[in-house]
Amino acid sequence: MLLTEIDHVAIAVRDLEAAVDYHRRAFGATVEHRETVDRDGVEEALVAVADSYIQLISPTRPDSPVARFIERRGEGLHHVGYRVADCATALAAMVAAGATPIDREPRPGSRGTTIAFVHPKGSFGTLIELVQE
Ligand code: CO
Repeated sequence: MLLTEIDHVAIAVRDLEAAVDYHRRAFGATVEHRETVDRDGVEEALVAVADSYIQLISPTRPDSPVARFIERRGEGLHHVGYRVADCATALAAMVAAGATPIDREPRPGSRGTTIAFVHPKGSFGTLIELVQE
């Protein structure tokens, strides 16, 4: 089994501060990590849940993929992060099983991780991010 944990569930939101405040009021949650990822045009806030995270993401520019996602489909579940021991091995295994990679090679993600995204087509309609810590 190549997956070691659900690393995170990512929710696309318009207003990151409002989403953080909601999670604080509803769950008593605190933000463990915040980061702006320029390459992806997103700002993220990570709420820790045991060994996993809720990743709240909001666009930092109107042409970012997350901005287009919200424009088309509204706020909501954007992708699921699967934690793996080795991102390259897991990516190759998914591709061998018929998945379509978005990232052909693993690349740097937030909080020092190594990541690769895999297209929803071929993964039952769900955008998957492989996350190696
Ligand atoms: Co993610």
